[in-house]
Amino acid sequence: MVESFVLNTGARMPSVGLGTWQIEPEAVCNAIYAAVKSGYRHIDSAVAYRNQKEVGLALKKLFEDGVVKREDLFITSKLWSGNHAPEDVDDDISSALEDLQLDYIDLYLIHGPIRIKKGTMLIPENLIPTDIPATWRAMEKLYESGKARAIGVSNFSCKKVEDLLAIARVTPAVNQVECHPVWQQAKLRKLCQSMGIHLSAYSPLGSPGSPGYCGPSVLSNPIVIYIAEKLQKTPAQVALRWGLQMGQSVLPKSADETRIKANFNIFDWSIPEDFMAKFFGIKQARLLKIEFAVQPQSGYNSLEDLWDGEV
Ligand code: A2P
Repeated sequence: MVESFVLNTGARMPSVGLGTWQIEPEAVCNAIYAAVKSGYRHIDSAVAYRNQKEVGLALKKLFEDGVVKREDLFITSKLWSGNHAPEDVDDDISSALEDLQLDYIDLYLIHGPIRIKKGTMLIPENLIPTDIPATWRAMEKLYESGKARAIGVSNFSCKKVEDLLAIARVTPAVNQVECHPVWQQAKLRKLCQSMGIHLSAYSPLGSPGSPGYCGPSVLSNPIVIYIAEKLQKTPAQVALRWGLQMGQSVLPKSADETRIKANFNIFDWSIPEDFMAKFFGIKQARLLKIEFAVQPQSGYNSLEDLWDGEV
């Protein structure tokens, strides 16, 4: 079934989640409401997106209006880069729970292998080296406390996943990474699958027009367009359906009700095997390289170093 994936905790994660990065705070309530009305049961959020309080207001309204119950939804949030110190992790989730008006989070992720000084803004001057083993031990406590029903990571390369597994008592449930037909993450997917870690795809449409993204377009890729025409679907639907058939959950962001609905309309059809094979022919390029993290003070001396060669 592609409607959901079972995590290594035993929980089911709905396979399509609404991404909320770059949705304006004043628009996110309507976007979430429309998404849940259309059938979405999974919302991806983070304090870094600067709209988490408004996400909480949307959830409250959905519960008050009786559209869904808390237990029907799967809500993800992420540890702020300034709160990696073990003693700050519990406060971080408490603040996310307050924003979201929830008493538990379904999935809590280390937002990235990037750390800044506590109480500062996410700018290069504030970067400091990570201590993922120490942060992960604090994440494990969140899991044990029940505040986070699953814990995981985001933006981790194969090497960073392997280093984490070497010290983890709780295996991460999810690694949320950039993933779409133009950056397919073949090596990482294989590693994660073999370790029981679910791969979740942010920017599954290649985040057209997003700052920081550069490289070839996913939605105007000729192979994606060819398959979309053959199947009479949109390029976005094909990109998302490809993700599901590769075994990953997809987190398309949209603030537009028509596109929100269209992006969810990917369950009652499939891409035939011979078309799936064509995706392997697409030239690969990471679109979000996160160059700003390459600084002497972050401990990353190059993009190769940040992504452990996967760039
Ligand atoms: P909008 O919010 O106006 O719909 P990603 O999920 O890969 O990060 O991509 C998000 C970007 O893609 C946003 O700019 C969003 O704009 C746009 N988008 C979302 N859904 C679609 C779609 N079905 N077709 C084209 N563009 C889309």
